[in-house]
Amino acid sequence: MKNILFLLGTAREGRMSERVARFVVRCAKERGDIDVAFVDVADFSQSKTKGNSVAEEAWDAFLQKADGLVIISPEYNHGYPGELKLFLDNAYEAYAGKPVAICGVSNGSVGGARMAEQLKLVLSAFQMIVINAAVYFVNVDEHFDDSGNTNAMDLWKKKVNGMLDQVIKYSK
Ligand SMILES: Cc1cc2nc3c(=O)[nH]c(=O)nc-3n(C[C@H](O)[C@H](O)[C@H](O)COP(=O)(O)O)c2cc1C
Repeated sequence: MKNILFLLGTAREGRMSERVARFVVRCAKERGDIDVAFVDVADFSQSKTKGNSVAEEAWDAFLQKADGLVIISPEYNHGYPGELKLFLDNAYEAYAGKPVAICGVSNGSVGGARMAEQLKLVLSAFQMIVINAAVYFVNVDEHFDDSGNTNAMDLWKKKVNGMLDQVIKYSK
């Protein structure tokens, strides 16, 4: 079993990315080859860089165990949420050499692709192995309900499992 750490990257009230996070985590649990860990940036409110020692210690503990990461994040004004960057900056060395995949979320037709391209640059600075097989969750409001159920199960499940296969392949 590989320990894969899933990070939800927005703390926005009413966020729809939580729907996608629920779905992705459920897909991972159903496979049977992944030990799932989940972290929500909303649980570690931060207003400045490295300003929260509780978040730093908790995140480091999760990263030490993780064989790979999956980040679920919306696109805000073509970029990643500020709270995601503040949270990621709580660590540095612990990321090195680990695979990371991105699940972009939007209520439009691009599915967070522009956010994902920017986030890849940050993840490269952490010396992570950036998995090319990102999943772009388009029109989240139409495709997912509050519980993370989708009206296009086969489509999204196939994409998520393809991405997870790659994360596992490159994990140590
Ligand atoms: C501050 C802000 C900026 C946004 N910018 C974009 C954007 O650049 N591109 C896009 O497709 N959607 C954008 N959206 C809409 C999101 O795609 C939409 O809120 C979606 O549900 C995912 O974000 P959520 O998890 O916060 O709900 C933006 C939403 C907010 C709140």
